[in-house]
Parts: sequence; structure tokens; C-alpha cells
Amino acid sequence: MKHISVAIDGPSGAGKSTLARQAAAQMGYLYVDTGAIYRTVALGALRRGVEPSDAVAVEPVLSEMEIRLAYNPDDGLQHMYLDGEDVSEQIRLHEISQHASKISAIPKVREFLLELQRDLARNNDVVMDGRDIGTVVLPDAQVKIFLTASAEARAKRRFLELQQRGQQAKFDTVLRDIIIRDEQDSNRPIAPLRQAEDAVLIDTTDLSLEQSLQAILAVIREGKRV
Ligand code: DC
Repeated sequence: MKHISVAIDGPSGAGKSTLARQAAAQMGYLYVDTGAIYRTVALGALRRGVEPSDAVAVEPVLSEMEIRLAYNPDDGLQHMYLDGEDVSEQIRLHEISQHASKISAIPKVREFLLELQRDLARNNDVVMDGRDIGTVVLPDAQVKIFLTASAEARAKRRFLELQQRGQQAKFDTVLRDIIIRDEQDSNRPIAPLRQAEDAVLIDTTDLSLEQSLQAILAVIREGKRV
């Protein structure tokens, strides 16, 4: 039987991961956070003393890295392993975001991760979130959603999330970083962040988390029928 794929793309801080995880749980699908995979590659480069923006230095170390994704049987959450070590916490550090954005612009990095992502969708019903899922990774996904919100609303959410994790940050810095990341992710030549032509746009600026979740579930259920 062919598996169902739900692609959710959008800029950072639009609530993709929280919403995609909850939507996947409701549908009984596997949630795949592809940003976590890019973050793990960025950490792998840094640990090898390689600057993530330096394509020439990054390319040869890619094949040395053992990147694995596994699901915790207790909480069902996606964990990332780098060279055998669970790095799920480390990849969430604020500074890793910029490094992940930089490394994700390298074509060889995207090529290196493409099959890993497609394999997950071949073998499972998935809700996969990222930047290029509906456009490049899973262009045939049955359901495509482009989730966005104003930069201010996204910065506010990210700021609160960092505070809850006990990470120090200034609101202005978080907002600036979000704008820089949008710029980088949208303007890179390969697999830039953009809405697929057949994606449904959901703007969560004025929606609560619950309202956003219901909007996503409605699109998924509708998409499954057609
Ligand atoms: O979703 P995130 O913030 O964890 O992603 C971190 C970075 O990884 C993001 O700035 C861009 C990159 N990324 C990507 O290029 N393609 C994806 N499918 C997912 C993430």
C-alpha cells in the first residue's frame, strides 16, 4: 500500500515542529523533523573543526559522519544521533540555528540527506516538516501545507520557547536572527524556502496553537479524501 505523505514547509518559528508533531500524533503518522537533521550535520561539522559555511571543507567530512534518526519508544519523539551519540539536546542551542541554515545551503549536504528523508516517507505514513519538502523532497506528497506567520509573531514564540528552555536571549536579537535566516533560506540557489504551487497556505499570526492545529488537520483530512 502506498504511504501517505504530508509536507509542511515554512519559515523558522511558524510553529511547524509543534504543530506537525501534534498533527502526526492525531493521524497516527510518523513525524519527521528535517531541520533537526540539518542541525545534526552542522554540529558534526563543528565538532570536526569545520566551519559550516565553508563548502569546500564541509564536503569531504560528510561521509565521515554517522547521522541517524531514531524514535524513543517511551515518548515517540524523534532523537538525532551523531556518530553514535544522542545529540537531540545540543542541536537545539540557539547558535546551531545559524550554522544549520548556512550548511543547508551547500548542495552536497542537501544531496547527502535527500535519500534519508525520502526513505522515511517510502516506509511510513509521515508528516514531514522543513523548507523544501513539498517542492523537492516529496513533490508527490498527497498533502502540502505552507505554514507561515509574521516575523514579529514568530520571534515572540521563539523568544518564549528559548526562555522556557532556560536559554538567555534578547527579543531584538531573536527577531534579527529570524529575519536573517528567512533571507538565507529563501534566497539560496538550491531548494530555497518557497511555497509549492499546490500547497495550502496557513497563516498562524492571529491563530492560537489549537486553531492552527485544527486548520492543519482539516487540510490533511481533506487531502486524504481527494
Ligand atoms: O527547522 P529548523 O529551524 O530546525 O531548521 C534549521 C535550518 O535547517 C533552517 O534554517 C534551514 C535548514 N533546513 C533546510 O534547509 N531544509 C529543510 N528541509 C529543513 C531545514
